[in-house]
Amino acid sequence: MNKNILCIGAGYVGGPTMAMIAAKCPDYRVTVVDVNPARIAAWNSDHLPIYEPGLDELVRKTRGRNLFFSTEIEAGIRACDIIFVCVNTPTKTFGSGAGMASNLQYCEKTARQILEHAETSKIVIEKSTLPVRTALAIERILNCQDNGICFDVLSNPEFMAEGSAIKDLENPDRVLIGARQTERGRKAQTVLVDIYSRWVPQERILTTNIWSSELSKLVANAFLAQRISSINTISALCEKTDANVSEVASAVGMDGRVGPKFLNASIGFGGSCFKKDILNLVYICRTYGLDDVADYWESVVRINDYQQKRFILTMLKAMFNTLAGKRICLFGFAFKANTGDTRESPAIAIARCLLEEHAEVVITDPQALPNARLDLASIMSTTDVTLSQSRGSLISFIDDPYEAAVSCDAITVMTEWELYRTLNYERIYNAMNKPAFLFDGRNILDHRRCYEIGFNVYPIGKTPMTHFIDDAE
Ligand code: NAD
Ligand code: UGA
Repeated sequence: MNKNILCIGAGYVGGPTMAMIAAKCPDYRVTVVDVNPARIAAWNSDHLPIYEPGLDELVRKTRGRNLFFSTEIEAGIRACDIIFVCVNTPTKTFGSGAGMASNLQYCEKTARQILEHAETSKIVIEKSTLPVRTALAIERILNCQDNGICFDVLSNPEFMAEGSAIKDLENPDRVLIGARQTERGRKAQTVLVDIYSRWVPQERILTTNIWSSELSKLVANAFLAQRISSINTISALCEKTDANVSEVASAVGMDGRVGPKFLNASIGFGGSCFKKDILNLVYICRTYGLDDVADYWESVVRINDYQQKRFILTMLKAMFNTLAGKRICLFGFAFKANTGDTRESPAIAIARCLLEEHAEVVITDPQALPNARLDLASIMSTTDVTLSQSRGSLISFIDDPYEAAVSCDAITVMTEWELYRTLNYERIYNAMNKPAFLFDGRNILDHRRCYEIGFNVYPIGKTPMTHFIDDAE
C-alpha cells in the first residue's frame, strides 16, 4: 500500500468521500472510524447507514479491498500517515454563542486523541466545516509536545450535496486545499493534491492559504442559501401581484451573470448545514465587530423561517381558518430529494405547526420514514404531555402515497421526489375528503392538471387555482 489514510467520523461526508478516495486510489488503504459502533456496524452491513444514489455500489466495490470501517480509533491513529477529520460541527446549544457559534468540542476531542496516540508525524486534514482560524487551534493542540512528532494541518472542505454526493465527489466543480504558506505546509498540500489528481483535473484543484480555504466553505454555503432566500422573498411578492415566480426566476436566471441554478422557490431550505454555517458566519462577523455584515447574512436565515410560517398561514387561510381535526398528508419528509436525511427539514417545522393546530398528520416518504419517526418522537417529547398523549395516535407513517392520501383533506408537497410528479392524482383526489386541497411547497406538480381534476391548488409564488366561485382565480 502507498499510504494509510484514516478518516475520523463515518457520517454523511466521511463514508462517501472515503469510499470515493478508496475507489480512485486502490494503492491507498483507507480506514473510516467512528465512536458510534452501530454506525460502523451498518457501514459493514448490506444496509448502509445513509441512502445516497450510487453509494451501495461504490462501497461494495471497495469495502474489504482497501476500504475498512472500524471502531478502533486509537489503532487507526497509530497506523496512518494522513488523517481526515470528518466529525460533526453542529450549532452550539449551550453557553456563550448558544444558537449561533459552532460547537467545536468533537473536533478538539479528535485533535487531542490524535496527539495522545500518534507515534509518527502525520498530515491532519480538516474536512469538517469549521470557523475560519480553527486550524490555528488544532495546530496549537497537536504541536504542544516537543517529542519530534510533527503535524501539518490542512483545510480541505467538502462541497458535495446530499442526494448527489457520489456524482459531486466523482466530478467536483473544484477541490479546495488550504495550507500554511511555508515549505512544510506546501509539501503537505502536495501530498493531498496528489490524491485528488488521480481523478480531478489539475485546473479544478485550487490551492490557497489555509484561512481562505476555511472561510470559503462558509461563504459558499451562505451564497447558495442566499439565492434561495432571495427567490423566496420574491415568491411572496408574486403571490400578491399575480406574477409567476418560476417565470421570474427563468427571466432573471437567463442572465449569464446570475445563472439559472438554485432559484427554485420553495418552503425554504433545510439540511444540516446551510442554517448552521450561516449562523456561524454571523457569529464570527459579530465577534470581529462587523455587525452590519452579520445582520446582512442573518437575514438569509430569517427569510427562511418567514417562508415556512407563510406556508402554514396560507394553509390555514385556505382551509377556512381551522386545521383542527383535519387530516393533512405530507408528501415527503426528507430535506431534499434522493436522501433519507431529515436534518433541519422544513417538513419538521410544518409538521410541528400542524400538530399545534390540532391537525392529524400523515407522513409518507420513500426513504426518510425512519428519520421522520425519530423527529416526530422528539417533537412530541418537547410538547405538552397530555396533549401529546392524545395526539400520539394522530400521526401516522405510511409508505404508499396513495394509501397515505386516503381520507385526507389536504396534501402538502414537502420534498421534490421525482415519484410525486408521476403519481395518478385523479386516483388520489377520488380517495380524499372534499373540498380537497393541494399545497405544493416545491412547485413540482402540474398545477393546471391538478386543478382540472378538482383540487384547490396552492403553489409557491403563483396565483392559487381554486373552485370557490367567490375566489378571484
Ligand atoms: P454526521 O453527523 O453525519 O457524521 C459525523 C460523525 O462523526 C458521526 O457519526 C459521529 O459519531 C462522529 N464523531 C463525532 N465525534 C467523534 C470522535 N471524537 N471520534 C470519532 N467519531 C466521532 O455529520 P456529516 O453530515 O458527515 O458532517 C460532518 C462535517 O462535514 C460537518 O462539519 C458538516 O458541516 C460538513 N459537511 C457536511 C455535508 C453534508 O452534506 N452532510 C457536506 C459538506 C460538509
Ligand atoms: C449544501 C450545498 O449545496 C453543498 O455544496 C454543501 O457541501 C452542503 O450543503 C454542506 O455543506 O452540507 P445540501 O444541503 O446537501 O448541500 O443540499 P442542497 O442541494 O444545497 O439543498 C439544500 C436545501 O435547499 C434543500 O432543502 C433544497 O430543497 C433547498 N433548495 C435548493 C431550494 O429550496 N431551492 C433551490 O433552488 C435549491
